[in-house]
Amino acid sequence: MPSLTPPRSPEPTPSLIVALRLATAPIHEAVERLPGMVRLTGPDVTLADYRRYLSTMAQVYGTLEPPLYAALGALCGGPASTRPVTLGLRPKYPVLCADLAAHSLAPPRLARDEQAPPDLNTAVGGLYVLEGSTIGGRVVARHLRKCLGDPLPGGGFLDFHGDQASAHWKGFGLALEGLRAEGLVDAEQVIAGACTVFRRVYALLATMDQAGSDA
Ligand code: HEM
Repeated sequence: MPSLTPPRSPEPTPSLIVALRLATAPIHEAVERLPGMVRLTGPDVTLADYRRYLSTMAQVYGTLEPPLYAALGALCGGPASTRPVTLGLRPKYPVLCADLAAHSLAPPRLARDEQAPPDLNTAVGGLYVLEGSTIGGRVVARHLRKCLGDPLPGGGFLDFHGDQASAHWKGFGLALEGLRAEGLVDAEQVIAGACTVFRRVYALLATMDQAGSDA
């Protein structure tokens, strides 16, 4: 007798951005649990905590952004400087330097990057990490305004896209999907790259705690 059970439709493939969120959730949680981040998001946050955070984020972006952006040059063979525009991205390091200047602080002395240059998949995954921080940044900015005063001095990084943050993030997600659909990136490798870069972010942020305990 023929089976009356309809054939199962295959599970839909999650969008690349959802797959990235799931894969990086544990390291994101670990970042949020770092003592410096706990201080930043706690009720007793001080201006000194915020300044230390800005300096460390400048170290993170100043170290990681240039090689990731350079690797995007492989996307369509064009000059590296034009590629990020395709993904709707622009570097955040200059804004971090401007935020530091608003506190009369100099840019950090950047650690020498000993890593091999990233490939395109790692660059796309890594830029997901650096771009995605803007989503949480708005939440952190709201908290800091409440605790430290409004307007927040040097808040350009945390409020990078202002009211356009959600629209930018949606556009970035669509751009990632487009890259996968065109076969320009490999989803597994993009995810692996994102995890690698997030671990580096974690390691650099952990130095904030070191600096905090030295202070
Ligand atoms: C105390 C520090 C942080 C807090 C409180 C925080 C909080 C958040 C929050 C609330 C979201 C939005 C989640 C959602 O809407 O589903 C988010 C998203 C995200 N954050 Fe963070 N974050 C922090 C630090 C960071 C750092 C340092 C990075 C990397 C440089 C980062 C990368 C991301 C990414 C990639 C996403 C997007 C996840 C996705 O929707 O795909 N976050 N964060």
